[in-house]
Amino acid sequence: MKFFADTAEIAEIRDLAATGLLDGVTTNPSLIHKSGRDFLEVVREIAGIVPGPVSAEVVALDHGSMMREAEVLRKIADNIAIKVPLTEDGLKTCKALTSDGTMVNVTLCFSAVQALLAAKAGATFISPFVGRHDDIGFDGMQLIADIRLIYDNYDFDTQILVASVRHPVHVLEAAKLGADVMTAPPKIIHQLFKHPLTENGIKSFLADWDKTGQKIG
Ligand code: E4P
Repeated sequence: MKFFADTAEIAEIRDLAATGLLDGVTTNPSLIHKSGRDFLEVVREIAGIVPGPVSAEVVALDHGSMMREAEVLRKIADNIAIKVPLTEDGLKTCKALTSDGTMVNVTLCFSAVQALLAAKAGATFISPFVGRHDDIGFDGMQLIADIRLIYDNYDFDTQILVASVRHPVHVLEAAKLGADVMTAPPKIIHQLFKHPLTENGIKSFLADWDKTGQKIG
C-alpha cells in the first residue's frame, strides 16, 4: 500500500520523506490556502522533494478551462498528477489527459458508480473521501470495499486512493480491503508508528540495559 501525505506544508513533507515511507503527496485548494503560499511555487517545491506523484488540483469547472489549467500544472514537473473533480467535465478532462500520458487523480468521489465512471475515463487514481462520507452517516469503508470489488471484476488499473483519512483505523481498514494508496495528514501518518506497548518495552529494556553497565561499541 502506498502512503501519500495530504498536505502542502514543506517541513512536514521533508520530515516524512526522511522516513523513506512516503510515496507521494496530495494537495487541494484548502490545503494551499492553509499553507499561505503561491500554488505553483509550493507544488514545484513538493515535486522536487518527493519522486512519486504530487496531486495538484484544477479549480475551473468547464472542460476547456480545466485543460488550460492542467497544461500549466503538468509543465511544473514529470511527477505531477492533475486532480480533477468527479463531474462530467472533470471526467472528460481525465480522459483527454490520461490518453496523453498524464497522471490524473479524480477527486471528491462519494459513490461506487462514480468510481466506475472514473475508471472508464482512464483515471490513474480515484479518491473516495471516507471521512467526509462517515461525517454524513454513511460508511466510508463500505465505499472502498464496493470500489475494490468493481475494479477487480473488470480488471481496471485505476488505483484506489483512500482520501479524507481521519484516524489510524481508517488506514487499517483500507489496507485490509486492498486499497492501493491512502493519503493522510502527516499527524496521522506519525500516529501509525506509535504503540504504548512499544514505548513501555523500550523503557524496560533500557532500564535493564543500564543495570548491565555495558556499552555498545
Ligand atoms: C484528498 O486528496 C483530499 O485532499 C483530502 O483527503 C481531503 O480530506 P478532508 O476531508 O480531511 O479535507
